[in-house]
Amino acid sequence: MKKVYVTRPIPEPGISLLKEAGYEVEINTEDRVLTADELKSKIVGADAILSLLTDKITPEVLESAGNNLKIVANYAVGFDNIDLEAAATKNVAVTNTPGVLTEAVAEHSLALIMAVARKIVEADKYVRDGKYKQWEPGLLVGEEMFGKTIGIVGMGRIGSYLAKICAAGLEMKVLYQDMMRNDLMEGEFGIQKVELDQLVRESDIISVHTPLTDETKHLIDEEEFAAMKPNAIFINTSRGPVVSEAALINALKSGKIAGAGIDVFEFEPEISLELMSVPNLVMTPHIASATTKARQSMSEIAAKNIIAVLSGEPALNQVVKK
Ligand code: GLV
Ligand code: GLV
Repeated sequence: MKKVYVTRPIPEPGISLLKEAGYEVEINTEDRVLTADELKSKIVGADAILSLLTDKITPEVLESAGNNLKIVANYAVGFDNIDLEAAATKNVAVTNTPGVLTEAVAEHSLALIMAVARKIVEADKYVRDGKYKQWEPGLLVGEEMFGKTIGIVGMGRIGSYLAKICAAGLEMKVLYQDMMRNDLMEGEFGIQKVELDQLVRESDIISVHTPLTDETKHLIDEEEFAAMKPNAIFINTSRGPVVSEAALINALKSGKIAGAGIDVFEFEPEISLELMSVPNLVMTPHIASATTKARQSMSEIAAKNIIAVLSGEPALNQVVKK
């Protein structure tokens, strides 16, 4: 019987699909991420691993699985936690869950933009603290999106969907930076491709939607924050290390930018104490894809990739090193 190891309990229907396919499915029952050593011992002899973005799939981990291992199916669209070269050397397919969390992540980015721009978290606290005594002309005045410019870093699926919401729904001007031109989006929504330096200089909102690679680590650093407008709102729902956390802290502390909303952290799950005390920052705990629909679809896709590969068919969503 083929063995699938699932590193944390995930929503259905993935687990049922794997069981119906006739596999022995073992699920980590600890209510936490396994240590490297635990992971290594749990996956011995596995034919497939269903991993989370919190599992570091290193060459040593892959080695410990043994020669049956055919696939690591990551329950995420990002796959920076997996050593792709080591997997390729061992002929292990690596898959992700693209497409099904596009709307969820783009909507969460919008929620962060709005939360920062309209001071939603601060306003909630104000009410709870019993401070609301009377209507005030100058109370918690924020910014509206209508007519503003958003700069989207990374025009993939998620960036494109956010661009569509912003251009078509909020009547914003959209600038974007990407290695590739997106003719379809340019034609349909009038978005404009620019270099990163122009994007950070001219945007009122800057939202990052790029994968984490060697090239994108600290893509947004001191220099980029220094070039931003004083009213700029900075959003990151991609991967923490794409942004220098120290530079973000400086930018917020010094009032260089107006605010930020982040769902990912450079050293997550560690959150620096400094981050906790900077002003005008809204933080969420890496939940951008956390909608019922997205998480179910991610589960289904991860399982279907495993079933395909263990049946000797090509993976549906194989990823390759860029
Ligand atoms: C979430 O961060 C994902 O990569 O799916
Ligand atoms: C990920 O789904 C992306 O392409 O933005």
